[in-house]
Amino acid sequence: MTSRIPGFYRLTPDERLRALSREGFGSSVTEGAVRGDGLTLGVANTMVENVIGTFGLPNAVAVNFLIDGRERVVPMVIEEPSVLAAVSHMARVVRDAGGFVTETDPSIMIGQIQLTPEGDHKSCIAKLEEHLDALLAAAKDIHPRLRERGGGVRSLEVRELVYDESGHPSEHMVVLQFYIDCVDAMGANMVNTVAERLSPMVEELTGERVRMAILSNLADRRLARAKVSLPLSVWGKDVEESQATCISIAAAWRFAWADPYRATTHNKGVMNGIDAVVLATGNDWRAIEAGAHAFAARAGTYRPLTRWEVIGDRLEGSIEIPLQLGTVGGTIPIHPTVRANLDLMGVTSSRELSAITAAVGLAQNLGALKALVSEGIQAGHMRMHARTVAAVAGATEQEIPLVMADMVAEQDISAHRAEMVLRRLRAVQERP
Ligand code: MEV
Repeated sequence: MTSRIPGFYRLTPDERLRALSREGFGSSVTEGAVRGDGLTLGVANTMVENVIGTFGLPNAVAVNFLIDGRERVVPMVIEEPSVLAAVSHMARVVRDAGGFVTETDPSIMIGQIQLTPEGDHKSCIAKLEEHLDALLAAAKDIHPRLRERGGGVRSLEVRELVYDESGHPSEHMVVLQFYIDCVDAMGANMVNTVAERLSPMVEELTGERVRMAILSNLADRRLARAKVSLPLSVWGKDVEESQATCISIAAAWRFAWADPYRATTHNKGVMNGIDAVVLATGNDWRAIEAGAHAFAARAGTYRPLTRWEVIGDRLEGSIEIPLQLGTVGGTIPIHPTVRANLDLMGVTSSRELSAITAAVGLAQNLGALKALVSEGIQAGHMRMHARTVAAVAGATEQEIPLVMADMVAEQDISAHRAEMVLRRLRAVQERP
């Protein structure tokens, strides 16, 4: 089994599915579902209110990944050209240097029960602290099935917060914060159930009213890490040029570290990869986005989610990111394309999915930085954009490569040029 499938991008969608299946990725259920006939209107209508249809996006596959010694292909749902090409290319570069190495935390989510004490907040804190063991025991009992699967509430703590915005009266808050291992679920419903069911006990113990009870999407106890170590000769035969590129990649990373304006775009590139996997696997991308950016700002300023450094004769890259991803629950059981995508990836646990997703984010970032410090991103983008322009101008599948080649050669990627080339091509074909 190998995810290194040369020329994958040149195949038709049917040929790609056959190539994946030949290599042992996916199973018989995969094929129909990933073709877009996955989510029926009937099922969509059970998912949210006011449904009038379903919404299509490309479901593509990144190849070449070697993660912790295991061959992986990665389904990605994304509309932006270049992302798949870049990530697959970077996965190939990384596999030649030994692949990605990952590490994940247990699936710990955080829940918050907030009180704004009418009485003395210190005495509210004291009452909660005095009964932490009883609260923990009660919290553990709320989800017996989760406990059977090896998860459940692990610990509780009491936090004191102050709202002290200048010009406004200050306010003391007390938050009972709990930590729960959701195993293979994203966990939002589990956390919210525990938070709400524990609230009456919190009110009884403190004599205060609970204001709200909800999970936190800053899942900073559920981090995924991936790293790569590349030789400085990684970018090709000209060793000096390759070394210079590595040095520039590290410098590009320092730019992102030093400047939130750059860090935001840097992380947008990371999220190009992460979000596409999150979508393909039916997970909550808003939660992932919110958590990732809050985590990126944990130092009090916004920083890059990855790190690139030249150390000795290696380019060392890493990513650390909170990933609240599930492989069970939510819409996963009812969305056939999601099930097929998980099947293609061969993942069976939330932590495995998080490890792969982190690796994709790192690969995407490497691709972006490499392009930015060498040819720039427009060259690749415009080549891919040329395909869309040709299709919009009405080119058939056979005509698209010819129209693209002309526009790229003429450096004129425009609707006007595409239409002109099409007219010329068709006139030649019509000649007797
Ligand atoms: C484009 O979608 C993403 C990039 O802007 C990321 C980056 O600048 O690092 C290329």
